[in-house]
Amino acid sequence: MKASVNTQYGAPEVLEVKEVPKPIPKDHEVLIKVHASTVNRTDCGFRKPEYLIVRLIAGLFRPKKQILGSELAGEIAAVGSAVKSFKPGDKVFGLNTFNFGTHAEYVCVAEEKAISAMPSNMSYEEAAAICDGAFLALTNIKAANILKPQKILVNGASGSIGTATVQLAKFYGADVTAVCNTPNIKLVEALGADRVIDYTKEDFTKHEAQYDVVLDVVGKSSYFKCKKLLKPKGIYISSELGYMCQNVFLALLTPLLGGKKVLFPIPKDRKEDIVFFRELIEAGQYKAVIDKVYSLDQIVAATQYVETGQKTGNVVIKIT
Ligand SMILES: NC(=O)c1ccc[n+]([C@@H]2O[C@H](COP(=O)([O-])OP(=O)(O)OC[C@H]3O[C@@H](n4cnc5c(N)ncnc54)[C@H](OP(=O)(O)O)[C@@H]3O)[C@@H](O)[C@H]2O)c1
Repeated sequence: MKASVNTQYGAPEVLEVKEVPKPIPKDHEVLIKVHASTVNRTDCGFRKPEYLIVRLIAGLFRPKKQILGSELAGEIAAVGSAVKSFKPGDKVFGLNTFNFGTHAEYVCVAEEKAISAMPSNMSYEEAAAICDGAFLALTNIKAANILKPQKILVNGASGSIGTATVQLAKFYGADVTAVCNTPNIKLVEALGADRVIDYTKEDFTKHEAQYDVVLDVVGKSSYFKCKKLLKPKGIYISSELGYMCQNVFLALLTPLLGGKKVLFPIPKDRKEDIVFFRELIEAGQYKAVIDKVYSLDQIVAATQYVETGQKTGNVVIKIT
């Protein structure tokens, strides 16, 4: 089968599309024919690790997993002898974070992992673009208890996590102020934001408004800049570690002090969340936001584009 392979860490050019053996499912695994995947920031973070922790997980000097890709939409091609919930021909979508392997024509995934029947009202390209942003957004939303109506600000509302956060927060009844650039204002409003601040024209941290939660999903601000925007028990969450990993230390310290606090929730792929996303999509309450679609042969160009940090929503890889 054809796959994008990186035998070493480095720039996008380390990715090489070549023939590799097709995987064989173990007893509890399904073999998925991948029709579409994405290049996301997690792929980039594991291809060129900036943090030692990533190398400790993924391999100190060279990657242990040499096919990246965590999101997928495709069709079950074969099942292991113990698989009960899927059969060949089923259309599925999901996330294979940390196991990766979806930048390939086939991937094996354990039956109990975060895969589910694909939404009936989506193409493979759309379904592939759902899970990474939505999982990370839902992780933050649960940690900050936005499951009840709250006043929140989303910085980076036009990215993968941002577009997912706006949609999910609106589903839970939050009042959402979104921060993005001029070309994305209409998109972010259409996703449900109650008001939008154009970061190219205004600095949201200079505003007077107060929020229950500030979600800095693009990690470009900081707790210290956003602190005055928080209500007395307000919460700040960033998707980045921050200067000198400050968000991790602040997440350990600030909850002990009683007032405003930083949280740094650790995402965990869960099958029930995938099922929840499918139900939301089928009810017309969640949409895929796709910027560009590339072929597998164009994986280097797709990755270079993602690494500009300027994509809108998601970048899809059409595989078959
Ligand atoms: N914690 C985790 O587990 C985890 C996992 C994956 C990713 N991440 C991190 O989370 C962050 C967001 O990920 P993502 O996939 O959502 O990123 P993304 O899709 O690449 O985000 C890009 C978007 O952010 C906007 N943006 C750039 N600079 C901005 C600024 N100063 N203010 C407001 N918006 C700005 C861009 O708009 P413009 O066109 O205006 O630049 C673009 O639309 C990344 O830093 C990523 O490394 C964390």
